[in-house]
Amino acid sequence: MAKYIVLLGPPGAGKGTQAQIVAEKYGLAHVSSGDLFRENLKNETELGKLAQTYMKRGELVPDDVTIAMVRDRLSRLDCRDGALLDGFPRTPAQAESLAQMLQEFDGAVTLVPYISVPEEILVERLGGRWTCRANGHVFHEKFNPPVVAGICDLDGSELYQREDDKPETVKNRIKVYQEQTAPLIAYYQERALLAEIDGTKPIEDVTTELLQAIEKAD
Ligand code: AP5
Ligand code: MG
Repeated sequence: MAKYIVLLGPPGAGKGTQAQIVAEKYGLAHVSSGDLFRENLKNETELGKLAQTYMKRGELVPDDVTIAMVRDRLSRLDCRDGALLDGFPRTPAQAESLAQMLQEFDGAVTLVPYISVPEEILVERLGGRWTCRANGHVFHEKFNPPVVAGICDLDGSELYQREDDKPETVKNRIKVYQEQTAPLIAYYQERALLAEIDGTKPIEDVTTELLQAIEKAD
Protein backbone atom coordinates (compact mmCIF):
# COMPACT_ATOMS: atom_id res chain seq x y z
CA MET A 1 0.00 0.00 0.00
CA ALA A 2 1.33 3.43 -0.96
CA LYS A 3 2.00 5.77 1.97
CA TYR A 4 1.11 9.45 1.92
CA ILE A 5 2.40 11.87 4.55
CA VAL A 6 0.45 15.08 5.21
CA LEU A 7 2.41 18.03 6.62
CA LEU A 8 0.09 20.16 8.71
CA GLY A 9 0.87 23.54 10.24
CA PRO A 10 0.11 27.26 10.05
CA PRO A 11 1.46 29.60 7.34
CA GLY A 12 5.19 29.99 7.92
CA ALA A 13 5.52 26.91 10.15
CA GLY A 14 8.17 25.46 7.83
CA LYS A 15 6.11 22.96 5.81
CA GLY A 16 7.79 23.83 2.51
CA THR A 17 11.28 23.98 4.04
CA GLN A 18 10.95 20.55 5.64
CA ALA A 19 9.08 18.97 2.70
CA GLN A 20 11.96 19.89 0.40
CA ILE A 21 14.51 18.14 2.66
CA VAL A 22 12.43 15.05 3.47
CA ALA A 23 11.21 14.52 -0.11
CA GLU A 24 14.78 14.54 -1.35
CA LYS A 25 15.99 12.18 1.37
CA TYR A 26 13.33 9.56 0.64
CA GLY A 27 12.95 10.23 -3.10
CA LEU A 28 9.30 11.11 -2.51
CA ALA A 29 7.20 13.43 -4.65
CA HIS A 30 6.59 16.80 -2.92
CA VAL A 31 3.04 17.92 -3.62
CA SER A 32 2.39 21.52 -2.52
CA SER A 33 -1.03 22.93 -3.39
CA GLY A 34 0.29 26.48 -2.95
CA ASP A 35 3.17 25.80 -5.39
CA LEU A 36 0.71 24.27 -7.89
CA PHE A 37 -1.46 27.39 -7.75
CA ARG A 38 1.59 29.65 -8.16
CA GLU A 39 2.79 27.57 -11.11
CA ASN A 40 -0.64 27.99 -12.74
CA LEU A 41 -0.47 31.70 -12.14
CA LYS A 42 2.98 31.91 -13.72
CA ASN A 43 1.65 30.04 -16.78
CA GLU A 44 -1.40 32.33 -16.87
CA THR A 45 -3.93 29.46 -16.84
CA GLU A 46 -7.61 30.04 -15.99
CA LEU A 47 -7.07 28.10 -12.75
CA GLY A 48 -4.13 30.37 -11.87
CA LYS A 49 -6.17 33.52 -12.47
CA LEU A 50 -9.05 32.21 -10.37
CA ALA A 51 -6.75 31.11 -7.52
CA GLN A 52 -5.02 34.48 -7.46
CA THR A 53 -8.27 36.28 -6.58
CA TYR A 54 -8.35 34.29 -3.31
CA MET A 55 -4.61 34.01 -2.62
CA LYS A 56 -3.92 37.73 -2.73
CA ARG A 57 -6.48 38.21 0.07
CA GLY A 58 -5.17 35.28 2.08
CA GLU A 59 -8.42 33.33 1.61
CA LEU A 60 -8.67 29.66 0.69
CA VAL A 61 -9.33 28.71 -2.93
CA PRO A 62 -12.71 26.86 -3.10
CA ASP A 63 -12.59 23.15 -2.24
CA ASP A 64 -13.88 21.79 -5.59
CA VAL A 65 -11.17 23.52 -7.64
CA THR A 66 -8.42 22.64 -5.15
CA ILE A 67 -9.44 18.99 -4.85
CA ALA A 68 -9.57 18.56 -8.65
CA MET A 69 -6.08 20.06 -9.02
CA VAL A 70 -4.54 17.84 -6.31
CA ARG A 71 -6.31 14.74 -7.64
CA ASP A 72 -4.78 15.39 -11.03
CA ARG A 73 -1.32 15.78 -9.48
CA LEU A 74 -1.61 12.66 -7.30
CA SER A 75 -2.71 10.53 -10.24
CA ARG A 76 0.65 11.08 -11.94
CA LEU A 77 3.21 8.31 -12.02
CA ASP A 78 5.67 9.85 -9.53
CA CYS A 79 3.00 9.74 -6.77
CA ARG A 80 2.03 6.10 -7.29
CA ASP A 81 4.21 4.83 -4.45
CA GLY A 82 3.33 7.68 -2.10
CA ALA A 83 3.97 11.39 -1.68
CA LEU A 84 4.58 14.16 0.80
CA LEU A 85 1.66 16.57 0.87
CA ASP A 86 2.28 20.18 1.89
CA GLY A 87 -0.65 22.57 2.32
CA PHE A 88 -3.34 20.02 1.42
CA PRO A 89 -5.76 19.11 2.93
CA ARG A 90 -6.71 22.41 4.53
CA THR A 91 -10.40 21.84 5.30
CA PRO A 92 -12.34 18.82 6.63
CA ALA A 93 -13.98 18.44 3.17
CA GLN A 94 -10.52 18.24 1.55
CA ALA A 95 -9.43 15.65 4.14
CA GLU A 96 -12.46 13.47 3.34
CA SER A 97 -11.83 13.75 -0.40
CA LEU A 98 -8.18 12.87 0.08
CA ALA A 99 -9.06 9.71 2.02
CA GLN A 100 -11.41 8.65 -0.78
CA MET A 101 -9.03 9.35 -3.64
CA LEU A 102 -6.14 7.56 -1.93
CA GLN A 103 -8.32 4.50 -1.49
CA GLU A 104 -8.82 4.53 -5.26
CA PHE A 105 -5.04 4.75 -5.71
CA ASP A 106 -4.56 1.83 -3.27
CA GLY A 107 -2.95 4.09 -0.68
CA ALA A 108 -3.71 5.91 2.56
CA VAL A 109 -2.53 8.74 4.78
CA THR A 110 -0.14 7.02 7.18
CA LEU A 111 1.20 9.99 9.16
CA VAL A 112 0.34 13.64 9.79
CA PRO A 113 3.26 15.56 11.27
CA TYR A 114 1.84 18.76 12.74
CA ILE A 115 4.52 21.47 12.87
CA SER A 116 3.43 23.77 15.67
CA VAL A 117 4.71 27.36 15.90
CA PRO A 118 3.14 30.29 17.81
CA GLU A 119 1.74 33.27 15.91
CA GLU A 120 4.37 35.90 16.80
CA ILE A 121 7.13 33.74 15.27
CA LEU A 122 5.12 33.13 12.07
CA VAL A 123 4.87 36.83 11.28
CA GLU A 124 8.65 37.28 11.53
CA ARG A 125 9.31 34.21 9.38
CA LEU A 126 6.99 35.25 6.58
CA GLY A 127 8.16 38.86 6.63
CA GLY A 128 11.76 37.74 5.93
CA ARG A 129 11.03 34.91 3.49
CA TRP A 130 12.47 34.89 -0.04
CA THR A 131 11.06 32.35 -2.50
CA CYS A 132 12.68 31.10 -5.70
CA ARG A 133 10.94 31.92 -8.95
CA ALA A 134 11.73 28.63 -10.74
CA ASN A 135 10.96 25.93 -8.16
CA GLY A 136 9.59 27.54 -5.00
CA HIS A 137 12.69 26.85 -2.85
CA VAL A 138 12.51 28.95 0.32
CA PHE A 139 15.06 31.04 2.20
CA HIS A 140 14.97 33.54 5.05
CA GLU A 141 17.06 36.69 5.20
CA LYS A 142 17.99 35.98 8.83
CA PHE A 143 17.31 32.29 9.59
CA ASN A 144 18.33 30.64 6.30
CA PRO A 145 20.03 33.19 4.04
CA PRO A 146 21.06 32.27 0.47
CA VAL A 147 24.81 32.39 -0.26
CA VAL A 148 24.24 35.26 -2.70
CA ALA A 149 21.40 37.65 -1.78
CA GLY A 150 18.53 37.48 -4.26
CA ILE A 151 19.70 34.23 -5.95
CA CYS A 152 18.54 30.67 -5.23
CA ASP A 153 21.41 28.42 -4.00
CA LEU A 154 19.83 25.36 -5.60
CA ASP A 155 18.94 26.48 -9.12
CA GLY A 156 20.34 30.00 -9.55
CA SER A 157 16.94 31.56 -10.23
CA GLU A 158 15.75 34.91 -8.88
CA LEU A 159 14.36 35.14 -5.33
CA TYR A 160 11.20 37.21 -4.74
CA GLN A 161 8.91 38.10 -1.84
CA ARG A 162 5.44 36.55 -2.14
CA GLU A 163 2.60 39.04 -2.49
CA ASP A 164 0.68 37.28 0.29
CA ASP A 165 3.60 37.73 2.73
CA LYS A 166 2.61 41.37 3.34
CA PRO A 167 1.73 41.88 7.04
CA GLU A 168 -2.03 42.52 6.45
CA THR A 169 -2.39 39.41 4.31
CA VAL A 170 -0.34 37.29 6.72
CA LYS A 171 -2.74 38.29 9.51
CA ASN A 172 -5.70 37.08 7.49
CA ARG A 173 -3.97 33.85 6.44
CA ILE A 174 -3.36 33.00 10.10
CA LYS A 175 -7.01 33.77 10.93
CA VAL A 176 -8.23 31.61 8.04
CA TYR A 177 -5.89 28.81 9.19
CA GLN A 178 -7.29 28.95 12.71
CA GLU A 179 -10.90 28.88 11.53
CA GLN A 180 -10.74 26.40 8.65
CA THR A 181 -7.58 24.28 8.94
CA ALA A 182 -6.87 23.92 12.68
CA PRO A 183 -9.90 21.56 13.06
CA LEU A 184 -7.82 19.01 11.12
CA ILE A 185 -5.54 18.63 14.16
CA ALA A 186 -8.40 16.94 16.05
CA TYR A 187 -9.56 15.15 12.89
CA TYR A 188 -6.20 13.38 12.47
CA GLN A 189 -5.69 12.93 16.20
CA GLU A 190 -8.94 10.96 16.34
CA ARG A 191 -7.55 8.72 13.59
CA ALA A 192 -4.30 8.21 15.53
CA LEU A 193 -2.22 9.72 12.71
CA LEU A 194 -1.02 12.97 14.29
CA ALA A 195 2.59 13.52 15.43
CA GLU A 196 3.23 16.96 16.92
CA ILE A 197 6.61 18.46 16.03
CA ASP A 198 8.09 21.51 17.78
CA GLY A 199 8.55 23.92 14.88
CA THR A 200 10.20 26.68 16.91
CA LYS A 201 13.62 24.98 16.90
CA PRO A 202 16.29 25.60 14.22
CA ILE A 203 15.56 24.05 10.81
CA GLU A 204 17.99 21.08 11.28
CA ASP A 205 16.46 20.17 14.67
CA VAL A 206 12.94 20.24 13.24
CA THR A 207 14.15 17.93 10.44
CA THR A 208 15.62 15.49 13.00
CA GLU A 209 12.35 15.36 14.94
CA LEU A 210 10.34 14.94 11.74
CA LEU A 211 12.54 12.10 10.45
CA GLN A 212 12.20 10.33 13.82
CA ALA A 213 8.41 10.54 13.57
CA ILE A 214 8.50 9.14 10.01
CA GLU A 215 10.81 6.24 10.94
CA LYS A 216 8.68 5.42 13.99
CA ALA A 217 5.52 5.28 11.87
CA ASP A 218 7.14 2.97 9.31
P1 AP5 B 1 0.75 27.97 0.72
O1 AP5 B 1 1.74 28.29 -0.33
O2 AP5 B 1 0.51 26.58 1.09
O3 AP5 B 1 1.10 28.85 1.98
P2 AP5 B 1 0.92 28.55 3.57
O4 AP5 B 1 0.22 27.36 4.03
O5 AP5 B 1 0.36 29.81 4.06
O6 AP5 B 1 2.30 28.19 4.03
P3 AP5 B 1 3.62 28.90 3.68
O7 AP5 B 1 4.11 28.39 2.37
O8 AP5 B 1 3.45 30.38 3.83
O9 AP5 B 1 4.53 28.42 4.89
P4 AP5 B 1 5.39 27.10 5.09
O10 AP5 B 1 4.84 26.37 6.25
O11 AP5 B 1 5.57 26.36 3.82
O12 AP5 B 1 6.75 27.75 5.57
P5 AP5 B 1 8.19 27.85 4.86
O13 AP5 B 1 8.85 26.52 4.88
O14 AP5 B 1 8.11 28.56 3.58
O15 AP5 B 1 -0.65 28.59 0.28
C1 AP5 B 1 -0.77 29.88 -0.24
C2 AP5 B 1 -2.21 30.17 -0.62
O16 AP5 B 1 -2.65 29.25 -1.63
C3 AP5 B 1 -3.24 30.01 0.50
O17 AP5 B 1 -3.33 31.19 1.28
C4 AP5 B 1 -4.51 29.74 -0.31
O18 AP5 B 1 -5.02 30.92 -0.87
C5 AP5 B 1 -3.99 28.86 -1.44
N1 AP5 B 1 -4.04 27.43 -1.08
C6 AP5 B 1 -2.96 26.60 -0.97
N2 AP5 B 1 -3.36 25.36 -0.63
C7 AP5 B 1 -4.71 25.41 -0.52
C8 AP5 B 1 -5.68 24.45 -0.15
N3 AP5 B 1 -5.36 23.19 0.15
N4 AP5 B 1 -6.98 24.85 -0.15
C9 AP5 B 1 -7.34 26.10 -0.48
N5 AP5 B 1 -6.46 27.07 -0.80
C10 AP5 B 1 -5.15 26.73 -0.82
O19 AP5 B 1 8.95 28.76 5.94
C11 AP5 B 1 8.60 30.12 6.14
C12 AP5 B 1 9.87 30.96 6.37
O20 AP5 B 1 10.46 30.59 7.62
C13 AP5 B 1 10.97 30.75 5.32
O21 AP5 B 1 11.61 31.98 5.10
C14 AP5 B 1 11.92 29.73 5.97
O22 AP5 B 1 13.26 29.90 5.53
C15 AP5 B 1 11.79 30.08 7.43
N6 AP5 B 1 11.88 28.90 8.32
C16 AP5 B 1 11.36 27.65 8.11
N7 AP5 B 1 11.60 26.85 9.17
C17 AP5 B 1 12.29 27.60 10.08
C18 AP5 B 1 12.84 27.33 11.39
N8 AP5 B 1 12.72 26.12 11.97
N9 AP5 B 1 13.47 28.33 12.05
C19 AP5 B 1 13.60 29.59 11.45
N10 AP5 B 1 13.11 29.90 10.22
C20 AP5 B 1 12.46 28.91 9.55
MG1 MG C 1 4.94 26.65 1.80
